[in-house]
Amino acid sequence: LANGLAATPPMGWNSWNHFNCFIDEKMIRETADALVSTGLADLGYKFVNIDDCWAEISRDEKGRLVPKNSTFPSGIKALADYVHSKGLKLGIYSDAGYFTCSKKMPGSLGHEEQDANTFASWGIDYLKYDNCFNDGSKPIVRYPVMTRALMNAGRPIFFSLCEWGDMHPALWGANIGNSWRTTNDISDNWDSMVSRADQNEVYAEYARPGGWNDPDMLEVGNGGMTKDEYIVHFSLWAISKAPLLIGCDVRNVTKETMEIIANKEVIDVNQDKLGVQAKKVRMEGDLEVWAGPLSGYRVAVVLLNRGARRKVMTARWDDIGIPPSSTVVARDLWQHKTLKQRFVDILTATVDSHSCKMYILKPIS
Ligand code: DGJ
Repeated sequence: LANGLAATPPMGWNSWNHFNCFIDEKMIRETADALVSTGLADLGYKFVNIDDCWAEISRDEKGRLVPKNSTFPSGIKALADYVHSKGLKLGIYSDAGYFTCSKKMPGSLGHEEQDANTFASWGIDYLKYDNCFNDGSKPIVRYPVMTRALMNAGRPIFFSLCEWGDMHPALWGANIGNSWRTTNDISDNWDSMVSRADQNEVYAEYARPGGWNDPDMLEVGNGGMTKDEYIVHFSLWAISKAPLLIGCDVRNVTKETMEIIANKEVIDVNQDKLGVQAKKVRMEGDLEVWAGPLSGYRVAVVLLNRGARRKVMTARWDDIGIPPSSTVVARDLWQHKTLKQRFVDILTATVDSHSCKMYILKPIS
């Protein structure tokens, strides 16, 4: 969507993966504080996104959404002011149906204009728009109603389509939203994570500045995967130009989690101005090479070992889009080392089970 808000994939935090419906304004404020104090905000994680369950089940007498009094007593406007005072942006959530998925608050179907205006008046910067309890009509009919309402609301608002991929939103989302889900919900385990990366990869051609494929939010830091598996998770999301929305409790983030989500070199791949999503360029059993171009004739590569045993893997210039016979300098983004060796035509590395290597390759001659 050409609203100027998604030149690169969005970065921030969302409440759902860790907190589910157990959210309140104090936790959201503390999260904003933590994004700043940990340095994550400076790395680009600017959106503080409230997911489902923030509103009362009934609208007010004028039909407006009402923040839940028991959990958001100060209201959303005050929260937005607080978040903005920290240099961050506030996101909120609604649904293109009669209720949100939790069934704990109303959806926006039939109230699109009113709700868009409410969000704008509160100072909202991002809207995630779910698809539960709708009227059975096509998303391609319901979602643009909210797009237009947001366009008329007088405030630029990032629009995240959450249709779960069933109706192939990559094919129609570009003029409706700034990102679109390509999958149903991620859970905090290896199979769920890699299968979402797979489903999302199919639509690589459709991602570009302005609109991105969304394989769902990050689980890094929630405890269900090993460190190597979370490194794979973050590497695949980064190279796939996926939204980087942290889904753990950043108020209690460990050093290990920070090493992953605060890896600036990997973030830079995600935020590269070329905005081209990587693809699987070679698959051999459990071994996959993912690659995509970056600005400056560079190429980002992930060597992914999905199998149970350590294996030797090869990136071939032919596969990854580097001219034959080029001499290449390789930067290892997880070791934070530029390899001394120069590579011609191939790069070979040993990759552990359920783990990956990630490089930026730069042809020098
Ligand atoms: C379904 C979405 O896919 C999730 O990300 C989350 O927003 C829940 N709904 C909330 O009910």
